[in-house]
Amino acid sequence: MVADLAAELPLMVLADLLGLPREDRHLLYQWSNNLVGFDDPEYGGGDVEAYRKTFFEAFQYALSVAGERRRAPRDDLMTLLATSEVDGRRLTDREFCNFWLLLVVAGNETTRHLITGSVLALVDNPTQRERLVADDTLLPSAVDELLRWVSPIMQFRRTAIEDTELCGTPIAAGDKVVLWYASANRDAAVFEAPDELRLHRNPNPHLSFGMGPHFCLGAHLARLEARTMLRELAPHLSRFRLTGPVVRLESNFVNGVKSLPGSFTGQ
Ligand code: HEM
Repeated sequence: MVADLAAELPLMVLADLLGLPREDRHLLYQWSNNLVGFDDPEYGGGDVEAYRKTFFEAFQYALSVAGERRRAPRDDLMTLLATSEVDGRRLTDREFCNFWLLLVVAGNETTRHLITGSVLALVDNPTQRERLVADDTLLPSAVDELLRWVSPIMQFRRTAIEDTELCGTPIAAGDKVVLWYASANRDAAVFEAPDELRLHRNPNPHLSFGMGPHFCLGAHLARLEARTMLRELAPHLSRFRLTGPVVRLESNFVNGVKSLPGSFTGQ
């Protein structure tokens, strides 16, 4: 389910938007696994050298495509990023590489894990799933409820720039503050029955895309991808059977699944 289905849609969309050959999507998959899965023994295993090597390879690749696009511009995001000017100057190589890699990682891991987590949630909740199959006007609220339920990005961290206080807790300038979106998404003071999957939940003020000035740039795209995938997939999920263990990513950042073996069998 992960490599063959959930990973493929966001990777193809990214490759098309950026203007990269579709076959290179497997490089993007590998690089983001190595970077996001830094703590997981199967990928980075905490090896800083391997982590640096992945950055280097990904940046070399991006710079080579940028060079090609400057020589021969095309109608794609790589050309836009490589040639646009901000405040009268082009992005430096470092800015270009960092932004490119942010797009690649943010645009594929997250949506992949949302799709996989949604499959697991819908397999575990057949009544909710059947409601969705019977009425696809439920798709938009279902996607937001699945975003809340899965919380693909569990936390981000900020650094306080001035002394402040949050709910009675003093925070000093320079303190690191971890925002646990996964916890906020199950806050009983905000959500009725937070531990129940309710695909019709509305309003749904989940924080899965973060908040404030860094609110997810790809939120609309991610919702569109998830709606599209669920519309196609949900009717078949009653025939989906797990054929092996679900293997989770070792990470305190991404709520990821590495492998979800199964087959579509039965009636
Ligand atoms: C289910 C899918 C997704 C989830 C759960 C998600 C989650 C998030 C979160 C929590 C942040 C905020 C980070 C912070 O607070 O510092 C963020 C930022 C961002 N996301 Fe997403 N994201 C998803 C899909 C995407 C997609 C598809 C793209 C692009 C193709 C994307 C691009 C970005 C970018 C560029 C930022 C940084 C925005 C900024 O710093 O101003 N994301 N995302």
